[in-house]
Amino acid sequence: MFVSDKKILTEVRTKDNDFGAGATWLPGGHVENGESSKEALLREIEEEFCIKPVDYYWLCQKPWYKNNERYLIDYYVCTKWEGNMIAKEAEKLIWLTYSEIEKLDEDVDKAAFKEYIDLEKHMTDMATQTNVNINDFSDFVLYKGFTFYITNGVYHPNYDSVFLAENIRSYKEDTVLDLGTGCGFFGIILSRKVKKILSVDKYKKALVCAQYNATLNKCVEKIEFRQSDLFSEINEKFDLIISDPPQVPSDTKITFGNDVIETAVDGGTDGRKILDVLIKQSKDHLNKNGRIQIYHTSLANIDKTLVGFRDNGLDPEITAVREGPFGRTTREKFMYYKRLGINVEYKFGVPMQRYYIVTAWNR
Ligand SMILES: C[S@@+](CC[C@H](N)C(=O)[O-])C[C@H]1O[C@@H](n2cnc3c(N)ncnc32)[C@H](O)[C@@H]1O
Repeated sequence: MFVSDKKILTEVRTKDNDFGAGATWLPGGHVENGESSKEALLREIEEEFCIKPVDYYWLCQKPWYKNNERYLIDYYVCTKWEGNMIAKEAEKLIWLTYSEIEKLDEDVDKAAFKEYIDLEKHMTDMATQTNVNINDFSDFVLYKGFTFYITNGVYHPNYDSVFLAENIRSYKEDTVLDLGTGCGFFGIILSRKVKKILSVDKYKKALVCAQYNATLNKCVEKIEFRQSDLFSEINEKFDLIISDPPQVPSDTKITFGNDVIETAVDGGTDGRKILDVLIKQSKDHLNKNGRIQIYHTSLANIDKTLVGFRDNGLDPEITAVREGPFGRTTREKFMYYKRLGINVEYKFGVPMQRYYIVTAWNR
């Protein structure tokens, strides 16, 4: 679904097409064997329109019955693209306004179109309340009944975030610090389970996104947002500190073409630039019997973290371990890790890292 200036692109299919001849449909195509729906999307757009999507996100999945076959359609919304749009396969392209929905020939397209109109209205309402530019959204994440919109440059919750989320120990009366909140992930998930939360990030952009998501998930009253470089603006103590700090060891600048997201993962040459400060300063911000829970990769020296917590008066334990393959960033740094002497294990020829959850208690 291409969207521009409050119009949606439709295509009139050629008369000799053996699938939907002459019909007005939202543009689409089939997923080939071995492809994900996102890969199919990118391929089809390039083949049919000679353009490259820049900002796009998944909207919904709908079943469709056609010619006695059942299909599942993944609808994506694309709001920004590179290149000049050329119709390579359709008879013609028509931009429909939102009131022209009935011109679509398939009910399934109408339903998806309607879903987009509702979503846009909802996002615009939210955006006015929270100051977010809705054209800045690049993706969204659904997790256990919560919805997180991710604006460009803000960390997209990943395996690390979900692994930590699954292993949080929280209690009803807890006061919580979500340190490095990104899109607001941990604070928002905890909002229904604890007493109150302070969510901080070094970056304003992340905080704006987090506030948007708190409004969307109806938990703003539970969460305070504050800009802070680690603990620099925090004087309070908490029952629980939760954090997935940047910790990818890197000898060169990590590049995604976006400064904010780079700092979300870059842990300096040994991965410990942020971790060491966090370990040193957390006790001062924990109530008696409070605890800090962090996600930790095996690439950033877990032993040093355990010793560090002990040296700083906390009682640490590893409360969860999982194995996972190297991601894009860590693969690029692979030779550097070898030089650092990090022992990398392989499974099925793929380099693996361990994910740990460390819980350190202030007994
Ligand atoms: C790996 S991301 C995790 C984000 C979020 N907790 C999640 O799981 O989706 C790390 C986050 O820490 C933030 N951050 C990096 N350096 C920071 C600092 N010195 N103080 C506070 N936040 C920081 C980044 O902006 C980013 O949002």
